Amino acid sequence: MDNNTSDTKDTLVQILSPQRLRGKVAVITGGARGIGAATARVFAENGAHVVIADILNEVGTSLAESIGGRYIQCDVSKEEEVESAVKVAVEWKGRLDIMFNNAGIAGFGGSITNIRMDQMMTLLAINLHGVVHGIKHAARTMIAGKRGGTIICSSSSAAIMGGLASHSYTMSKEAILGLARSTACELGVHGIRVNCISPHGERGSLLRGRGGRLEDVAQAVLFLASDESGFVTGHNLVIDGGYTSAFSQMSFIYND
Ligand SMILES: NC(=O)c1ccc[n+]([C@@H]2O[C@H](COP(=O)([O-])OP(=O)(O)OC[C@H]3O[C@@H](n4cnc5c(N)ncnc54)[C@H](O)[C@@H]3O)[C@@H](O)[C@H]2O)c1
Repeated sequence: MDNNTSDTKDTLVQILSPQRLRGKVAVITGGARGIGAATARVFAENGAHVVIADILNEVGTSLAESIGGRYIQCDVSKEEEVESAVKVAVEWKGRLDIMFNNAGIAGFGGSITNIRMDQMMTLLAINLHGVVHGIKHAARTMIAGKRGGTIICSSSSAAIMGGLASHSYTMSKEAILGLARSTACELGVHGIRVNCISPHGERGSLLRGRGGRLEDVAQAVLFLASDESGFVTGHNLVIDGGYTSAFSQMSFIYND
C-alpha cells in the first residue's frame, strides 16, 4: 500500500473534516425526492455544492433552494438534458467532482409472455440510457478537469436476486452493474472511480426490526462520493440489511 504522498495528506485532511465533501461539486439525477433528495441533503450538510436534476420542477427547486444548491429540469432519457445538467455545475462552480446517476422508475409488472416492448423501451430509456448519459457527460467533464472524480449509479437488490421487481426493471439494474464495471476499467486511468449502490426497499432484512431507510442509502452514497472510498472502484455496495446474502427461514439451524 502506498501511504507516503501529498495526495494522502490531502485525503486525510478531508477525512478528518466534519464536512466530508467540502467544496466538492455534485450533480444528482432524480434528486427531487426519495433517495436522491436524502442524498442531496447529506451532500450539502457535508459541504458539497449540489445540482439537482429532475423532472419534478416544484419540489426540485424548493429542495435546491433549501440546501443552497441549483435545480435544473432534466429528463435523463434525453442526452442533451443530462449534458446541460453537467454544464450547470461547471458554469456555477467551474468543476464537477461527483455524479450520482440515481433517476429511475419501477415500470410495469406482468408476465414475460405478455411483455410490451414499448413499455420496456420506455423504462430502459430512463433507467439504463439515463445512466449511460450521466457517465458519458460526467466523464468528459472530469477528464477535461484533470482532477479525477467519482461516479455513483443506482442499481438495486433486484439485480442480485430474481423475483424482486419486474423483468424490465431487473434487466436495467443488472445492466447498470456491467456498465459501471466496464467504465470503471476505462476511467480509472483518469482517477475517476465508478461504483454502484444496490438498495433494497423496506421489506426484509437480517437485522431484526430494521428495514432500509433513505438515510441508510444516502450515507452509503456519501461514502462512495467522499475520499474515504478513494481506493474503491468497480464495486457494487449492497444496502439491504443482508437480505440478498442469506435465506433466513433456515436460521433455526443455528439454535443451540
Ligand atoms: N427506494 C428503494 O427501495 C430502491 C431500491 C432499489 C433501487 N432503487 C433505485 O434508487 C433510485 C431512486 O429511487 P427512489 O426510491 O428514491 O425513487 P423515487 O421515485 O422516490 O425518486 C425517483 C426520482 O427520479 C425522478 N425521475 C424519474 N424519472 C426521471 C427522468 N426521466 N429524468 C429525471 N428524473 C426522473 C423522479 O421525479 C424522482 O424525483 C432509482 O433508480 C431506483 O430504481 C430504489
